[in-house]
Amino acid sequence: MEILGIDVGGSGIKGAPVDTERGVLLTKRYRLPTPKPSTPEAAARTIVAIVRHFKWKGAVGCGFPGVVRSGMVLTAANMSRKWIGVQADVLLKEASGCEFTLANDADAAGLAEIRFGAGQGREGVVVMITLGTGIGTALFTDGKLFPNVELGRLELDGKVAEKWASEKVRRDKALSWKKWAKRINKYLDRMHTYFWPDLIILGGGGSKNFEKFAPYLSTPCEVVPAKFRNGAGIVGAALIGANKT
Ligand code: BGC
Repeated sequence: MEILGIDVGGSGIKGAPVDTERGVLLTKRYRLPTPKPSTPEAAARTIVAIVRHFKWKGAVGCGFPGVVRSGMVLTAANMSRKWIGVQADVLLKEASGCEFTLANDADAAGLAEIRFGAGQGREGVVVMITLGTGIGTALFTDGKLFPNVELGRLELDGKVAEKWASEKVRRDKALSWKKWAKRINKYLDRMHTYFWPDLIILGGGGSKNFEKFAPYLSTPCEVVPAKFRNGAGIVGAALIGANKT
């Protein structure tokens, strides 16, 4: 099945048509900056621009950086708060003319890695963590997703983890790989204490540089980069769209 996957992030909105049976992008991805402020109307215009770029008429799957239940956005930590309570699948269908299915962005990325990537064939507890503008998390047991797990919101020393250890924080504060890895270790240690994962997969923009900080990781758990690196969100979004049709 060919589905357009769109990954909405706090900094960029990216899309590409995906072959959902093979988990491969059919063309180069197209990225536009997330509008500021990222209101539903403004972000919808950007999303429609991506749909038009590919002259897409079919189904679209979309990962959104917040809790999404039955197409409705319930949280928006890194997007305009105006998204909260918006029936986003209806809004985007009306704006684009295409059928939209939405899910949390990290859940989408995790599905791509479980189906085609670093988590393929892995049993037990797998945690996918996306390091981007925020920190997204997806929790799987024996390949089955527990949806909308918001572990980027976990508190570390009184601070929200994603405000202290995300890829954006690393860049904004120009943290060295070693200093950032120290923060990531603290976060992963907490995951280990609470969930005892068999595998942790790191994705999002931060995972593009996995080799630079991996030597400093010390969590007593297998930690691997996402096979799709930052592209997992697009492939996963398309899987969400394919599930609907
Ligand atoms: C949101 C999550 C999202 C993550 C990554 C967080 O701020 O609460 O839902 O998965 O950012 O985009």
